[in-house]
Amino acid sequence: MSRDDYPTDQPAVVTCGLPYANGDLHIGHLRTYVSGDALARSLRRLGQRTAFVSGSDMHGTPVAVNAEKAGVTPEEFALEWHEKYEATFPEFGVEFDNYGHTHDETNAELTREFVREWIDGDHVYEKEIQVAWDPEVDQPLPDRYVEGTCPYCGERARGDECDEGCQRHLEPGEIENPTSTITGNPAEYRSRDHEFLRLADFQEYLKGFLGRLEGTDNARNQPREWIEGELQDLCITRDMDWGIEYPGEGKEDLVLYVWVDAPIEYVASTKQYSDRVGSDEFDWEAAWKEGAPGPGEPMDDPSAEGGEILHVIGRDIIQHHTVFWPAMLRGAGYNEPRAVMASGFVNLDGKAFSTSRNRAIWADDYLDEGFESDLLRYYLVTTGGFQQDIDFSWERFQERVNGELVGNVGNFVYRSLLFASRNFEGTPEADPSEEVLSEINDAMEAFRADLNEYSIREASQAGVRLSRFGNEYIQRHEPWKLVDEEPEEAAQVIRDCVQLAKAAAVLLEPVLPDTTERLWAQLGEEGSVHDVDLTACLEDPPAEFGEPEALFEKIEDERVERLNERLEERVAAASADSDSGDETADAEDEGGDASEDEGTETEGLEPVTDERIDFEEFQSLDVRVGEVLAAEGIEGADDLARLEVDIGVETRQIVAGIKRLHDLDALPGTRVVILANLEPAELFGVESNGMLLAAGEDADLLTTLGDSEPGTKVR
Ligand code: 2FM
Ligand code: ZN
Repeated sequence: MSRDDYPTDQPAVVTCGLPYANGDLHIGHLRTYVSGDALARSLRRLGQRTAFVSGSDMHGTPVAVNAEKAGVTPEEFALEWHEKYEATFPEFGVEFDNYGHTHDETNAELTREFVREWIDGDHVYEKEIQVAWDPEVDQPLPDRYVEGTCPYCGERARGDECDEGCQRHLEPGEIENPTSTITGNPAEYRSRDHEFLRLADFQEYLKGFLGRLEGTDNARNQPREWIEGELQDLCITRDMDWGIEYPGEGKEDLVLYVWVDAPIEYVASTKQYSDRVGSDEFDWEAAWKEGAPGPGEPMDDPSAEGGEILHVIGRDIIQHHTVFWPAMLRGAGYNEPRAVMASGFVNLDGKAFSTSRNRAIWADDYLDEGFESDLLRYYLVTTGGFQQDIDFSWERFQERVNGELVGNVGNFVYRSLLFASRNFEGTPEADPSEEVLSEINDAMEAFRADLNEYSIREASQAGVRLSRFGNEYIQRHEPWKLVDEEPEEAAQVIRDCVQLAKAAAVLLEPVLPDTTERLWAQLGEEGSVHDVDLTACLEDPPAEFGEPEALFEKIEDERVERLNERLEERVAAASADSDSGDETADAEDEGGDASEDEGTETEGLEPVTDERIDFEEFQSLDVRVGEVLAAEGIEGADDLARLEVDIGVETRQIVAGIKRLHDLDALPGTRVVILANLEPAELFGVESNGMLLAAGEDADLLTTLGDSEPGTKVR
């Protein structure tokens, strides 16, 4: 049964993946939260009753390991980070209706109820398994306490997740060549009794579920291969002290696996919201339970009448949300998710952020720089496809802000409102023209349709396009030439522009909540733009308003240069500090930089960018054959080497991150390929005048098949 378009009569719950309460947030984390927030706001614009919830993920080894390093208890450690997140999200306009955490009583109680339902439904059994053990410290090694090789893709992996390779969840005992992260010793195995959720009970159900699931293609398609064949059961307990105790007799030494209580927080957080505002305003049970067949009832024909559950997550946790979580919900008699939207990562220079190497742009740094949060929101929502990994750069940030926000939206709104206030003291008396009404109607329709396709990026462009139209419209009619001679015509043009500005405010609110609230006030509107629905686009703007202020400030080149210098230093220092043996521990919780192409054989490769360039742009790259004359490591830098390269017309000094990847003494005489017209940069105090082209993590140097002379152009 296909579901009704949004807005529906059912309550919706939009959730964002719970951040582990274990370290600072960076703008890579913010991509999902800003997108979730924009989605929730957009649904509300359509008139959909919506709760937006999340919380901090307090348990599990990601928190325990870092708390241990910090020398405090996991509870103290996690609570501190939880409070920090609670304060940080609103600074980026991410306004959860409830932001709880997994260690509170609501979640602990609900989690125990879920597990009891599974036990009553006979979906849980006990099994003796071999768990990794460190003989030196004589303790079990759950999840992140062990590292090794992924049995599915061969990449380096942590105990329970292949975060640098295929992103699959790994069960205890699955990882190959395990070593302890406590002592570095090879792990041994010991027998332990653990509890398992029998996923095979849900296999048929899951096939049907995936057929119904909406959202992004990666979330809908990738899991199909994971549920083929026999579904491996999920070990739901761990040998740890930190977590929610397993609610079974005589099992007090076991806690629940973090991935059991974490998603249940989505429900607990909604419940806390309902309890706070009252069930007349938002009924958590109507959203999560009504219409769902009970745990014992047939699973093959679930009703589509329940609430609309929409999960916004990072692409590294698709399996948890499309396989384990729906089975957990079904086993406890809850509604299934309607949609899962899985976003790509944000990279720096094509590589994942690394929290422990400080290779990141921190949320606090961004705010300290004094940038409005809406600018970053706009960048994160509108750069690249939602499923794709995107690269952050200050140039691109500047380009989008100056080009689209300052040059288009800000410019249109400012000139329209200024003209209106100076010449008419507000909205001129006239009806909006048919042409403009039709343009606004089209924009509203596009917004509605894009949202129903789960494209937040496209939906956000409806307001941008409207403003572009407004700029053309004002330019076409030149009201400044009409105002004295043809005052009525001028009034008509400006009346239209004010309506367009108002509609743009409503349509852009989800992505630019602070700016549109200011615009709303400039228009003399009462109340908040956050509370209106789409129909407000067509309502009359107030008759009176004063002179506006510019909505956005241009970002100057000098500022970008300064930010770039700081970032380059940080990235260079991070790679200089990097120690290949430390990679996995450094990946923290943001996933690796490997991308997946919707479950095809290109696993591990980044998708081809959807931004095409034309031939002329390609021609602007001056790529040359070169010959290495000399190569030496740069003192103090672990990765950087200084090369002298003959490129025919001259000899260039180039700094490249190949110190540990190549035998530098063997390089002189090697033909290489150089990007010769790259802006010179200083790395570790050494000027680099060009770029050495190389492939992949191992910096496989590009060379020529024949005998092209140094200086020959590559076309
Ligand atoms: O991967 C992570 O960062 C987890 N903390 C996400 C949990 S999302 C949810 F299901 F709870
Ligand atoms: Zn793998």
